[in-house]
Amino acid sequence: MKIRKVVFPVGGLGTRFFPITRAIPKEMLGIIDKPLIHYAVEEAVHAGIEEFIFVTRHGKSSIEDYFDYMFSHANYFDVKIGSMCYVRQDEPKGLGHAVLCAKNLVNNEPFAVMSADDFILSTKSCLGEMASNYDGANMVATMSVDRKDVSKYGIIDVLKEDGSLVYAKSVDEKPPVEEAKSTHAIVGRYILSPDIFDVLEQLAPGVGGEIQLTDALLQMIPTCGLVGFKFEGQRFDCGSKKGLLAAILQVASQDANLQQVIEEFNRRK
Ligand code: G1P
Repeated sequence: MKIRKVVFPVGGLGTRFFPITRAIPKEMLGIIDKPLIHYAVEEAVHAGIEEFIFVTRHGKSSIEDYFDYMFSHANYFDVKIGSMCYVRQDEPKGLGHAVLCAKNLVNNEPFAVMSADDFILSTKSCLGEMASNYDGANMVATMSVDRKDVSKYGIIDVLKEDGSLVYAKSVDEKPPVEEAKSTHAIVGRYILSPDIFDVLEQLAPGVGGEIQLTDALLQMIPTCGLVGFKFEGQRFDCGSKKGLLAAILQVASQDANLQQVIEEFNRRK
């Protein structure tokens, strides 16, 4: 199904990257010469997205400036600058709250949500693959993680698997290791029914006192269903220093000039 709109929740504080994120949005941290948010927008463009909604806040204006430049000077993306819009999130009250802030801009159609922290290197657009498989049930990207890491993620309780699709009977936000029903973790790509806004509006705070998108997905399973999509490619958790460094090294290793630097560094050790 054609998905036209994407929401980028970019209102987070980026505390794991203090002090640099005191002045620079974490979404603007660079993988060599492009910021993380660039890669997310590129993946969305390749998925056929036409409208880009950023849920932003004070201190994040360099994201707007960056895309002004990319459109007006570099003419980098083959979409119109008017297709980018920005809405404010007054307080960082969680991913579910950020998505709810985009309600009026999304309106009444299925839409995508992408987290720029989840950097996915693949020959295919992960979001594009998801859109091709979307059939009206809420959809999340999923990958298998080490059991010791399950409490960092939303975890799917699996009803059945069919090729790259994982049908959920339940889902749990950041469960303790001993309570996790599987190791199928949610990665930051979603295609959601607009009905989720009514659910989010009524939702009580969950883990960490935040409005959790995962809790809304759980409530909607009986009416809408929930499907995980096992994507191709490598995912890097660029919300962490280790993940960002690994992503930079991976991208550098694909460039002959930069690869030399990695080789020299390894030789010197
Ligand atoms: C969010 C979601 C979580 C998901 C994760 C993927 O958590 O709440 O369900 O697994 O993104 O990156 P966060 O990393 O924002 O704490």
